[in-house]
Amino acid sequence: MRGCYEIKFNSIGNESIGYLVALEAKDQIPFEIKRIYYSHSVPNDVVRGNHAHKKLEQVLICLNGNLKIKCFNGKEEKIYELNSNDKGLYMGPMTWREIYNYTECTVLLVIVSEYYDENDYIRDYDEFLKLAKNI
Ligand code: TYD
Repeated sequence: MRGCYEIKFNSIGNESIGYLVALEAKDQIPFEIKRIYYSHSVPNDVVRGNHAHKKLEQVLICLNGNLKIKCFNGKEEKIYELNSNDKGLYMGPMTWREIYNYTECTVLLVIVSEYYDENDYIRDYDEFLKLAKNI
């Protein structure tokens, strides 16, 4: 869908020595990286996200466990399952996301194009719908 796509990463190694995944800005990650954060220990019945960003781009990688991400760009909606650490989900601006179905061991790594700025968030769903109409 517009604004979201999955990225497959190359795992270097093999079963006997283990694996390494290398990510570089402007290559596997399609922007200059300004920030990295991760979430963990999210209870299974919690839905996180519930916002969109005006400008920020990000790539989400489930390092361990799995979860689901429902993305909505104002027109199309798609549910992605992140269940493997050799896969990322690119999410562009103006994507409303709900992140849910965390397992106990889920660790979600997020690689971001901007420094933290609460003014870049759209946390009100009605405001998002209004702004998304004009895209
Ligand atoms: P939020 O982005 O809403 O997380 P999620 O999408 O996982 O629900 O952020 C949760 C809280 O953490 C919110 O109070 C803002 C704060 N926060 C920071 O201080 N720095 C950051 O880099 C991020 C991503 C969030």
